[in-house]
Amino acid sequence: MTFLRRLTRDDLPRLRQFWVEHWDGEEMITRGNIYHPEQLDGFVLEDGNEWIGLLTFFVKDNECEVTSFDSLREGHGIGTKLINAVMDEARKQNCRRVFLITTNDNMHALRFYQKRGFELVALYRGAVNESRKIKPSIPLTGFDGIPLRDEIELEMKLQVKS
Ligand SMILES: CC(C)(COP(=O)(O)OP(=O)(O)OC[C@H]1O[C@@H](n2cnc3c(N)ncnc32)[C@H](O)[C@@H]1OP(=O)(O)O)[C@@H](O)C(=O)NCCC(=O)NCCS
Repeated sequence: MTFLRRLTRDDLPRLRQFWVEHWDGEEMITRGNIYHPEQLDGFVLEDGNEWIGLLTFFVKDNECEVTSFDSLREGHGIGTKLINAVMDEARKQNCRRVFLITTNDNMHALRFYQKRGFELVALYRGAVNESRKIKPSIPLTGFDGIPLRDEIELEMKLQVKS
């Protein structure tokens, strides 16, 4: 049986390890901003002791940024559960939008987000090349052998309570 829960400080070592395994290092870089696990909030979906989905986020200035997002069993609704959880949380925190950065190679993610109402708002040409200068472990090629170069921002606007 699967169980969705909020990350706690006790999860930090495992979160670091997860990022090393799935994102080539202990930090995440988007648009030149460096995010460390201890700064972030998140949700994990567990099957027993196994992490099968993880989403981290960062709320600042009434905006919620999804800083990492992974499903380890794709096509079974894990991603949908996690994205719904962060949308609910952003509404609770009265955020005016949820946004995230993906990369030019990630067709699956672009499809996933847009089907769920996210809109493309910006293309940052060469931004991954810049991030690679800070984090050299970022690979040169991504999904389907596509050169990993650019960052793409997507957002979903939310109703703000006055
Ligand atoms: C993007 C990502 C998180 C999506 O996660 P996911 O668990 O596959 O997402 P879901 O299963 O909820 O949805 C994927 C599709 O499977 C379908 N699906 C949902 N439940 C299903 C089930 N029980 N059986 C079969 N398919 C199902 C969904 O309908 C969805 O299809 P749709 O997009 O046409 O609606 C995942 O592909 C991933 O981890 N990618 C690698 C890391 C990554 O790129 N992260 C994003 C960084 S920006």
